Amino acid sequence: ASDSEVNAPMTFGQPFVGTDSGPKLIREHGLLKNLSSLGWRVEDHPDLDFATICSRADAEKSTRDPNAKHSQLVGAGTKVLADLVEDKLSTGRFPLILGGDHSIGIGSLSGILRARPETGVIWVDAHADLNTPSSSESGNMHGMPLALLMAELVPDRRVIPGFEWMEEGIKPFLSPDSLVYVGLRDVDKMERQYIKELGIKAFTMYDIDHLGIGRVMEMALSHLLDRAPDRPLHISYDIDAVDPMYAPATGTAVRGGLTWREAHFVAEHVVRSGNLASAEIVEVNESLSPGSETVELGHQLVTAMLGEAIL
Ligand code: ARG
Ligand code: MN
Ligand code: MN
Ligand code: MN
Repeated sequence: ASDSEVNAPMTFGQPFVGTDSGPKLIREHGLLKNLSSLGWRVEDHPDLDFATICSRADAEKSTRDPNAKHSQLVGAGTKVLADLVEDKLSTGRFPLILGGDHSIGIGSLSGILRARPETGVIWVDAHADLNTPSSSESGNMHGMPLALLMAELVPDRRVIPGFEWMEEGIKPFLSPDSLVYVGLRDVDKMERQYIKELGIKAFTMYDIDHLGIGRVMEMALSHLLDRAPDRPLHISYDIDAVDPMYAPATGTAVRGGLTWREAHFVAEHVVRSGNLASAEIVEVNESLSPGSETVELGHQLVTAMLGEAIL
């Protein structure tokens, strides 16, 4: 199998510096060697250079839209990421996307859905990332990726400066029944309403406590695969799904999250389906808790998503 690492050190979707060091630090942990020993032919793509892709002119225009902060920058960066991911998938590679903040999900999923519209998505996160620019209380775009992908929530993305590209060619919409959440525990008021109205399948930390992670993951995958056993799956793993005891180095940490083993189990179970076609890890920001285990955990979760636990 051939895997292409796509490094997307985006920071503009949230207020902290340091989220861009994720790809570099995870690689420094020996990721490439690791993946080759699992049998992957790794193609190490140079980091997407968002400082250049997202120009100063864009930055200045962006300051005018407080409801979707830096939207020109996030828009320019995710457009390039979408093209790259689409290209990797259509040439038969498994894109492994290292973030960067979770706004990169807009790019990853756009590319994935253009290449394979029937993809099912597992969103592992403390948060729902389902705000629209008008529902968001923070204006941070890492809280918006899934809303931008749903026609029901943002029917015309041209209203968000920088996202005009999403209305060109094949429109990469995500159907609400193609998404399942795992690990939720900090959901905003309007996000709750959207989840209910759209009938999105969501497993919160309550469900994990109640049913156990094994049962929850079985139910999550059967929601996506029962009606379409051969569809590709994408996992988007926000490190803040994990309890801050293990993953403190992230911008929006919330207590009461996945344990070290639960976090691994999620990744391991998704791989075992045999349907996983792309994976993403986001929001590792070493500078917010220097020397913590967060990078090590991120590295381990990536190797788990690429099959390390299958003997
Ligand atoms: N719901 C909050 C917001 O919209 C937090 C989002 C956090 N997202 C993340 N990818 N860490 O601002
Ligand atoms: Mn390691
Ligand atoms: Mn989150
Ligand atoms: Mn997130």
